[in-house]
Amino acid sequence: MGVNGSLRERSRSALALRLLLDFAEEYGAETRVLDLRSLELPLFRPDRRGSCEAETRMSADMSWASGVVLASPDYHGSMSGAMKNFLDYNWEECAGKVFAYICSSHEKGLTVMDQMRTVVRQCYGWSMPYGVSFNGKDDFGDDGMLKNAKVEARLRMMARDLVIYGGLIHRQFLADVAGSDASTFAASYR
Ligand SMILES: Cc1cc2nc3c(=O)[nH]c(=O)nc-3n(C[C@H](O)[C@H](O)[C@H](O)COP(=O)(O)O)c2cc1C
Repeated sequence: MGVNGSLRERSRSALALRLLLDFAEEYGAETRVLDLRSLELPLFRPDRRGSCEAETRMSADMSWASGVVLASPDYHGSMSGAMKNFLDYNWEECAGKVFAYICSSHEKGLTVMDQMRTVVRQCYGWSMPYGVSFNGKDDFGDDGMLKNAKVEARLRMMARDLVIYGGLIHRQFLADVAGSDASTFAASYR
């Protein structure tokens, strides 16, 4: 599943995410997009869990996913507020899933992807060991087409790796949850 964390109408994070998911389909994945531009997710309030339709839909998508791509613009070296809000809702769904990170940034977006990685680790998710960043203005044309072959190659590599490693880890996690060994990490999710 891909999550677009930019609320900008002509978001290039969304374009890169779509490309990555298209590549993932070529490698055999089924994909879904959770676009925070249209989800209208309220600010997370811990004492109002389960009170809106957007949350119900989002939770269903998160439960369905075995791998998740988080796409965020660089906002002052951080992920967007919309992405952080999404993650605040979804901490229980991270275990046993592999997360990949892409970032639209003029500055490589390393701190942005590190922050998303930190949140996912804190929620017991697995992270891909590399991310993909791009410079929205330079790497995409006005027609919305990606024009940087290196970024395209990295998105394709990430799609392939996420499909393979995401599948392996998620399958093992489900098998561990279904098993009876009390010493595994997954045992606490029974
Ligand atoms: C509030 C705000 C803060 C930003 N801070 C940074 C920044 O620190 N570094 C950077 O490279 N770009 C920064 N940008 C630019 C965006 O990261 C950039 O325009 C990005 O491509 C937007 O992604 P999108 O097309 O998916 O919306 C900022 C933009 C906004 C609106």
